[in-house]
Amino acid sequence: MSKHVYIKTFGCQMNERDSEIMEQLLAQSGYIPVADQTDADLVILNTCSIRAKAEQKVFSLLGSLRKQKQGQPELRIAVAGCVAQQEGKQIFRRMPHVDIVVGTQQLYQLPEMLGRLERKETAREISCNLDKEFSIPPFQRLLKDDAPNQPADFRKFVTIMQGCNNYCSYCVVPTTRGREISRPVADIREEVQLQVNRGVKEITLLGQNVNSYGCTNPVAENPTGFADLLKMVAAVPGVQRLRFTTSNPQDLSTELMQCFRDLPNLCPHFHLPVQAGSNAVLKRMHRKYTRELYLEKVEELRSYCPGIAICTDVIVGFPGETEDDFALTMDLLERVRFHGSFSFKYSDRPHTRSAEFTDKVEEQVKGERLQHFQSRQDAISLERNQEFLDKKIEVMIESNTSTGTQGRTGSNHIVHFSTPTNLRPGDLAWVTITRAGQHSLKGELAPPEAS
Ligand code: 5AD
Ligand code: SF4
Repeated sequence: MSKHVYIKTFGCQMNERDSEIMEQLLAQSGYIPVADQTDADLVILNTCSIRAKAEQKVFSLLGSLRKQKQGQPELRIAVAGCVAQQEGKQIFRRMPHVDIVVGTQQLYQLPEMLGRLERKETAREISCNLDKEFSIPPFQRLLKDDAPNQPADFRKFVTIMQGCNNYCSYCVVPTTRGREISRPVADIREEVQLQVNRGVKEITLLGQNVNSYGCTNPVAENPTGFADLLKMVAAVPGVQRLRFTTSNPQDLSTELMQCFRDLPNLCPHFHLPVQAGSNAVLKRMHRKYTRELYLEKVEELRSYCPGIAICTDVIVGFPGETEDDFALTMDLLERVRFHGSFSFKYSDRPHTRSAEFTDKVEEQVKGERLQHFQSRQDAISLERNQEFLDKKIEVMIESNTSTGTQGRTGSNHIVHFSTPTNLRPGDLAWVTITRAGQHSLKGELAPPEAS
């Protein structure tokens, strides 16, 4: 009888990619994915611990799974990802109904762990290697495991590096994902080629800090920097769209910025987290750039690619942030006029330096600052989106149902249109933008642009 697995993914694209890998590994052991946790024999929570709230969500879902397990004692529950890596066996203490805890670099052991549980060799399984160096095998296994016979999605993430060496004072990632390791160029090329051969049209290169790709590379003597890697991937025939995430302003090179001018398939969208607009705060965050440098980079980027959509991440209420510091963040928002941003109230994370800082900002003040920032960003996003009105833009189709079609622009804007069409996900089409909202655009199918 076939077994069913439900995987719930929290957090970033790195986790989404890891969930895909787990799904493929489990398919080899006969597990079929289901969309509802109540239909599952195995529930995996692939967790995120970047902010306190993300972690709370995991524990509250685990709470609800406890009830499900009471009525379904054979249900297996696994916790994977960053909370698993961070908390290790503490999870069993807090949530005794959990059967498996699997760290960020141990995904490949999951089928083996399940096998031992099924054979009742152990009551629980755990595999996290917090103390050891994070290793390279996950990269090498990706190629073989990536189910070449299954129909491909039209877009895929390709991991180019893991971990982070920046040690921003608020960030848990070096603890949960380890030191930075770059994946060998040949592996990346091979995986991109494999994906394109399977019909993938859009590739997103993934890493915590892609700009330092190749700088720390214990496995391959690899002189390639990120800009060269990007050029190499862009040149693979069949890569219609190319994206990458995430960047750190301190390592953003002119050569990389010029790729937005020179590579036609590189999408004009840049996620460039600033975190704060005050140099004093940036310094205590251990970000190695100033607001002035950030603004210069934005200007340079726009000189090579005037239409580029720049988005950012912002933390408000970092310990010691004064009203004046916060005003500098607001000022930066006005100067850059980001197309969009993700903004968060600062929260303490385990093993981070800022958790030890004593000058914490009150919750209420953090809330007010967040609201202030977000309402201004919303207004700017709307104005930015209105710039698209009456323009004819190419979109890649994401879905097409009887209720309408959804596509995405290179600048990463969602466009809804209702013109009947038989376009399929991954196809390209031209649309004329007729309405602009804060979070998406509306349009009508237009005749193709003459090339
Ligand atoms: N508190 C609040 N936000 C945080 N981020 C990372 N760590 C924290 C923290 N301790 C935010 C940053 C980062 C995004 C992924 O999450 O803005 O870019
Ligand atoms: Fe969350 Fe960071 Fe882990 Fe991604 S790497 S899942 S954002 S904690």
